[in-house]
Amino acid sequence: EGELCLSRSLVNSSDKIIRKAGSSIFQHSVEGWKINSSLVLEIRKNILRFLDAERDVSVVKSSFKPGDVIHYVLDRRRTLNISQDLHSLLPEVSPMKNRRFKTCAVVGNSGILLDSECGKEIDSHNFVIRCNLAPVVEFAADVGTKSDFITMNPSVVQRAFGGFRNESDREKFVRRLSMLNDSVLWIPAFMVKGGEKHVEWVNALILKNKLKVRTAYPSLRLIHAVRGSFCFFTLKVMKTNSFVMPEISADIVQPEAILFTFNRIFLWSQAQSSVVEGYWLTNKVPIKRPSTGLLMYTLATRFCDEIHLYGFWPFPKDLNGKAVKYHYYDDLKYRYFSNASPHRMPLEFKTLNVLHNRGALKLTTGKCV
Ligand code: CTP
Repeated sequence: EGELCLSRSLVNSSDKIIRKAGSSIFQHSVEGWKINSSLVLEIRKNILRFLDAERDVSVVKSSFKPGDVIHYVLDRRRTLNISQDLHSLLPEVSPMKNRRFKTCAVVGNSGILLDSECGKEIDSHNFVIRCNLAPVVEFAADVGTKSDFITMNPSVVQRAFGGFRNESDREKFVRRLSMLNDSVLWIPAFMVKGGEKHVEWVNALILKNKLKVRTAYPSLRLIHAVRGSFCFFTLKVMKTNSFVMPEISADIVQPEAILFTFNRIFLWSQAQSSVVEGYWLTNKVPIKRPSTGLLMYTLATRFCDEIHLYGFWPFPKDLNGKAVKYHYYDDLKYRYFSNASPHRMPLEFKTLNVLHNRGALKLTTGKCV
């Protein structure tokens, strides 16, 4: 799925269904779950048509030189300078080149992981992907510690490391990165203006402390593929009202239908990028970005034969009505259905749940036994 491309009315009607029914509509059984290898291959093939994660997971050194000026993907009027530090941390080749795994874990950050005892199972996968530099050591029994690929939105510097205001914040950050050894640290630096000084500080600390972590900065192409698909859909829905996707607002989301639509969207947006960009800039549409977790699943389809998701539960209560924290490691609150949120996690979950039931991925939201 690169993007959930929905108009406000489609999002709202789907949200309403989910909110009304509560998370109980997402009963899914892990017993008897079996991989559907042909569906896995079909999804990989479809996603590859508009996005090649092996190539697009990061820009490489040869694409830029220090001093180059690039436009932010979600804010084309603003620019970013490729600094010497950033350039020196760009990989020579894709850090995911030729990497293939039998089983992978994509670990989201929901509080549903607490008391899950999933740590061992998560660490037993060949490749473990985590999000936003989430802490692991104190939660090892439930979340494991293995981290082969970890994302870090620039906002994490502010959120979890005090904006690097004092030495102890910086030390904490360096300690966290030292644990990663030569894992891939994926920093979406080219999305929106605002995080550039955080990215620069992060880069400077990595260089100063000679950290072994393998930095990756998602390519503009990747984000454009995602963004282009998004804009096209909203453009069509809003301008002509003739392009509707009933599968999205219906109770069951058909993954194939979504993928098919994304393919068409991507091809069209390639040809119409200026229109799409212009439309984006008017900013009148409540465009929703895919969450990091959904993006990681999408990337993983390229490398992994079997994808297991943990820590995906964007609901305030579990199936027994017990409160669930937004994050397993802090007290951040999140309004899952708010229009102010950049994501539509419950809607994403609905799709992931369908994919689980079809054997394309395995979603674990209970205890690991
Ligand atoms: N997630 C989830 N349920 C939650 C919290 C997180 O399903 N209660 C998944 C989402 O896919 C999310 C991922 O776990 O993207 C990582 O969580 P987090 O670090 O909290 O992501 P955010 O910072 O909220 O969002 P972003 O996607 O913008 O990074």
